[in-house]
Amino acid sequence: MLKKSIVYDYNNVLSDRIKSPIGISIEEINSYTEKTALIHKKISERRKKGELPFYELPYKKEDVKLIKNTAATLQKELGQDFENLLVIGIGGSSLGGIALLKALTHPFYNLLSGEVRKTPRVFYLENIDADEIAGLFDILNPEKTVVNIISKSGTTAEPVANFLVVQRFMTERLGKEEFSKRVVVTTDPKKGELRKIARDSGFKTLDIPEGVGGRFSVLSSVGLFPAWIAGIDIDALLEGATFMDKLCKTDDLHHNPAYMNAVIHYHLHTRKGVNIAVLMPYSNALSTIADWYRQLLAESLGKQYALSGEIVYAGQTPVKATGVIDQHSQVQLYREGPFDKLITILSVDNLKNFLNIPALYQEYDGISYLGGHTINELLNAEKKATVLALIKSGRPVIEITVPEINPYTLGQLLFFYEVQTIFGGYLYNVNSLDQPGVEAGKHYTYGMLGRKGYEERMEEVKRFPKRDEKFTIKGKK
Ligand code: PA5
Repeated sequence: MLKKSIVYDYNNVLSDRIKSPIGISIEEINSYTEKTALIHKKISERRKKGELPFYELPYKKEDVKLIKNTAATLQKELGQDFENLLVIGIGGSSLGGIALLKALTHPFYNLLSGEVRKTPRVFYLENIDADEIAGLFDILNPEKTVVNIISKSGTTAEPVANFLVVQRFMTERLGKEEFSKRVVVTTDPKKGELRKIARDSGFKTLDIPEGVGGRFSVLSSVGLFPAWIAGIDIDALLEGATFMDKLCKTDDLHHNPAYMNAVIHYHLHTRKGVNIAVLMPYSNALSTIADWYRQLLAESLGKQYALSGEIVYAGQTPVKATGVIDQHSQVQLYREGPFDKLITILSVDNLKNFLNIPALYQEYDGISYLGGHTINELLNAEKKATVLALIKSGRPVIEITVPEINPYTLGQLLFFYEVQTIFGGYLYNVNSLDQPGVEAGKHYTYGMLGRKGYEERMEEVKRFPKRDEKFTIKGKK
């Protein structure tokens, strides 16, 4: 495994390099020097007081031991019967784990034969979609399946409902006792109803450390347990995060990639109207990192109120794009549309495979030039070409290069974005750890489904004006 640093490159946001109404000058960057030192001090103090516990996840050796022991117990109890892990969770309880699996396992991991794979298949159940759940039941054998329900609060409607449905499906075939052997509950160490249920039902449990919110939990048992089950080297992952933590321990903006990225995003947003932050991985394996990043940025920084109580409507809109696919979809807009986007290109120096493109159809000029090159060269050329084209149109581009996709570099990347987000919260002066904006919708749902204590929400739903058919359009059948 190549244990090298990822490279953060902000050359192409600088106004003296790109002719652009939305470039940023070194002077503008340097104007954040004092603020950076101040924020750094605040973060360090909070960290010392244990108020930002996600920072300590890479160092929690005991938790890693517990994860490995739980996996070993399951393997001992179930042996060959541990063929599938079904992870149930949503938002911060699923996106990080999915990103790890996509990046660090075979691209068609679940489709490999057991002999080749050697470790259980891993499925995620996130949405509450009856057709998908029913489909899952068509392919999962309860006798050979372990369920890992992940919910920090232990009460989130979607994963809990999915768990109940899965529980019925499995107990009908296995009975209660056998089902209990096959459940791992990942939740708050003390609070929440799932914790109580786990205790009463004898389910295995893993802790999400107190104060670690969903979207900052990928390096806890939330992401690590499924990753370990799929054979991912979680020690190297945490080692990579530790490396990034050390790199980000300086208040020198020019040596701290996470702080620099936060400053550039914040400045372009608040001073130049760059409302959109695009993350565009040039790698299928890294594509779901962009899903995880979208949630991290959106839920952490998208806030109506500042900590001072003032209304601010903070936050950029994070957008996922995939290179090269979105060159044939989004790039037209990125080059010629409004000057409202900062584009981050995430790419990989060395993929595991090199594929030659055969020199066929040499008589056709439009095809023959490809022969003799590799697929890797083509990808690289297209990435460079896109960066050049964007810069030429005055669009700021940040490039993050991963030397190789492995647990060590992934650990760095995830931690980098977490630190950037925390620092960004201070720049906007918002609480990056809460998510009050998602509560209202949850409460209406509880009201509509008759949850005790939410009767008033149901009344509100009833009072909401009914849809006027005059303002709907449909064809006649
Ligand atoms: O980041 C967050 O805090 C949220 O996205 C949660 O992860 C999500 O709502 C799921 O919550 P829970 O883990 O409590 O079920």
